[in-house]
Amino acid sequence: MEYFLTEQQQMLKELAHKIAEEKIRPVAAEYDKGDKFPWDIVKMFADLDFFRIYIPEKYGGLGGDVMDLVVAVEELSRACGGISLSLAATALATFPILLSGNEAQKQKYLPDLADGKYLAGFCLTEPAAGSDAASLKTKAIRDGDYYVLNGVKHFITNGGVAKLYTVFATTDPARSVRGQTGFIVEDGMPGLKYGKKEDKLGIRASATSEVIFEDCRVHKDQILSREGLGFKVAMQTLDKSRPGVAAQALGIAQGALELALDYTKEREQFGQTIASMEAIQFMLADMATQVEAARALVYQAARMIDSGVKDVARESAMCKLFAADTAMRVTTDALQLFGGYGYMRDYPIEKYFRDAKITQIYEGTNQIQRLVIGRHLIKKGAYI
Ligand code: CAA
Repeated sequence: MEYFLTEQQQMLKELAHKIAEEKIRPVAAEYDKGDKFPWDIVKMFADLDFFRIYIPEKYGGLGGDVMDLVVAVEELSRACGGISLSLAATALATFPILLSGNEAQKQKYLPDLADGKYLAGFCLTEPAAGSDAASLKTKAIRDGDYYVLNGVKHFITNGGVAKLYTVFATTDPARSVRGQTGFIVEDGMPGLKYGKKEDKLGIRASATSEVIFEDCRVHKDQILSREGLGFKVAMQTLDKSRPGVAAQALGIAQGALELALDYTKEREQFGQTIASMEAIQFMLADMATQVEAARALVYQAARMIDSGVKDVARESAMCKLFAADTAMRVTTDALQLFGGYGYMRDYPIEKYFRDAKITQIYEGTNQIQRLVIGRHLIKKGAYI
C-alpha cells in the first residue's frame, strides 16, 4: 500500500517503528501491570524530538503538523496505546496554545513543550460535563488582573504528571457556550491540586487523574484568545486533535492484526495451522480491510487539516469514529483468534482489547462523533 508520505514522514514512521519494537514492546506489559508512568520512555521521546513534531520551527519545533503526529502516534500505538498517549495528550493540550494563544504565550510555552521539558494536560471534562461540554461548572471569576478558578476537572489524561494545563471554565454562566474561557495554568500555581488517580481498564501506562482548582488565581495574561471564546477554542482543538486519537486506535488495531496473523500461522489444530483454514482467513481479511479503510480516512482528515481547510469537524469526527470502532472490532476478533489463550494475561492480545475501548469514549464518545457528523450533514449537505 502506498501512503504518499513525505520523506520526513517516512523517516519519522521508521524511527517510531524502531522505538516501538525495541523500546516499548518489551516493557509494555510491565507498565500495564505495574500501573506505572513510563517516565524513561517519555524522556526518550523528548531526546528523539517527538515532542517537536507538531510545533512550528519558529518555536523550536520540526514544523510538522497533524499528519506527522498521526504517523508517529500510529506506530508507537502498535506496541502500546497507553505509552503513546503521553505524547498525543500533550499535543491535545498544546493545540489550544497553537490555535489561539497570543505571541507572548507561544514564546513562553512552545519552546519548552517542543523540548519535551514537561507534559501538558487538556482540562475540559468535569464530573457533570462530559459529552455536554457546554455545561461546565468550573468557574473563573474576575478579581482585578486575576481570575479565581474553582472547580473539578476529571478523567484528565496526563493529570498529575503534566506541568502545564489548558483549562476551560465558565466566566459567565448566564451566557452558556459564549460564557466560557480558556486559560493556561501551570503546575505549582497556588490552588491547583490533584485528586483521585483513576484505576483504568486499559491504557494503564497513561496517567489519568482529577485536576482540582481551589481559589486558584490565574493572571489575565494566561487567557487563551478572548474571554467568552473558550468553547470555540475547545471545539477547534478537538477538531484538530481527534485524528490523533484515531491514529492511536489505528495503531492498536494494526498491532492486534499483526499479532493475530503471526499466531494463526503458528497455531495448529486438526493437523494444520489455523491460518490455512478459510474461516480464519476470512476473519483476517476483514480485519486487514477495516484497518486499511480506517487508515485512509485518518490520513485524509489529517491532510485536510494540515492543508488549511477551515471546517474539518465532519472529517475529524468521521475518522475518529471509524478508527475507534475498527480498533474495537479488530481487537475483539484478534482475541477470538487466540482462543482461550487470548483471554489470558500471559498473552499480549487482551491488553490491545482493553486499550482499544477508550478510543470509542474519549475526545468525544463515538455517539458524539455521530452527532457532529449528523448535524454537519443536515446543515451543509451530503457531499462537500
Ligand atoms: N468549531 C468552531 N465552533 C464550533 C464548533 C467547532 N467544531 N462546534 C460548535 N461550535 C460553535 C457553534 O457554531 C456554536 O456557536 P454559535 O452559537 O455562535 O453558532 C457553539 O459552538 C455551540 O455549538 P453547539 O450548539 O453545536 O453546541 P452543543 O452544546 O450542542 O454541543 C457538542 C456540541 C459537539 C456536543 C460538544 O459539546 C462536544 O464536542 N462534546 C464532546 C466533548 C468532548 O469531546 N470531550 C472530550 C474531552 S477531551 C478528552 O477526552 C481528552 C483526553 O482524555 C484524551
